[in-house]
Amino acid sequence: MTSSQPKVALVTGAARGIGLAAAKRFLADGWRVALLDIEGALLESAVAALKQPDDTLALTCDVSDAAGVAKAVAAITSRFGRLDALVNNAGTAVFAPVLETSDADWTRIMAVNLTGPFLCTKAAAPLMREHGGAIVNITSISAVRASTLRSAYGTSKAGLAHLTKQLAVELASLGIRVNGVAPGPVETAMAKAVHTPEIRADYHDAIPLNRYGLEEELAEAIFFLCSDRASYITGQILAVDGGFDAAGIGLPTLRGQRRNG
Ligand SMILES: NC(=O)c1ccc[n+]([C@@H]2O[C@H](COP(=O)([O-])OP(=O)(O)OC[C@H]3O[C@@H](n4cnc5c(N)ncnc54)[C@H](O)[C@@H]3O)[C@@H](O)[C@H]2O)c1
Repeated sequence: MTSSQPKVALVTGAARGIGLAAAKRFLADGWRVALLDIEGALLESAVAALKQPDDTLALTCDVSDAAGVAKAVAAITSRFGRLDALVNNAGTAVFAPVLETSDADWTRIMAVNLTGPFLCTKAAAPLMREHGGAIVNITSISAVRASTLRSAYGTSKAGLAHLTKQLAVELASLGIRVNGVAPGPVETAMAKAVHTPEIRADYHDAIPLNRYGLEEELAEAIFFLCSDRASYITGQILAVDGGFDAAGIGLPTLRGQRRNG
């Protein structure tokens, strides 16, 4: 770190999974990190386990709540005084056939996965522009290929991928780069909840590297895109998926019409 003042990152959905791994990656490089999550108790224990009270800030907040997000950014301003990176990682998934997807599930998935990053970006950009910075949106391979069961989730992530490009074009004038990371299947609580054994087996067969990704592998890509090493990269979506997207459509569960496959 060349600057005398440590850089600061805000990571949403940071109580566990990819978000927590990203927070650890920033801390390992000397950044300070605001960890935001809707699960207050889980977040408090995750932040306590990091054992870096001077460098961390726990913010209990729903990313789809504009007032809550504004309050969270105000807390970062008063505690750290700057913001250099925003990782829009908080997300929710319900895998169901479109005819069985409730209106409430559709609305909630859009609110968290798409409106949330919009609200966080709007709240964070005025603080980020003071020093310039980087935003990374966590999309999904479900944003780039259509499949069964993912009408709401995949559409929310495709919207986020496009928002990434819109923001990259618009926020460049503020010195803010905006990129996306599109994970393939990663062994997290979310994957455990929505990946049936059949989906899981198909993924293994279709991924050239023949395994799920690790949270730390996603964190590394996120950190790179937020770092100065990526200073001329904006408007890009980096697939971190073991070669899954490069290999093209290959999953019976992605092609078929069955509930679980
Ligand atoms: N795990 C995968 O296989 C996979 C694949 C592709 C994309 N992704 C994406 O990666 C991101 C992280 O996923 P993960 O697997 O670590 O999930 P996870 O469920 O383990 O963690 C997500 C975190 O986000 C928090 N969260 C959910 N809704 C929130 C809200 N409204 N406001 C604030 N926080 C909220 C949760 O409490 C949780 O701590 C998500 O956007 C997900 O869609 C995951």
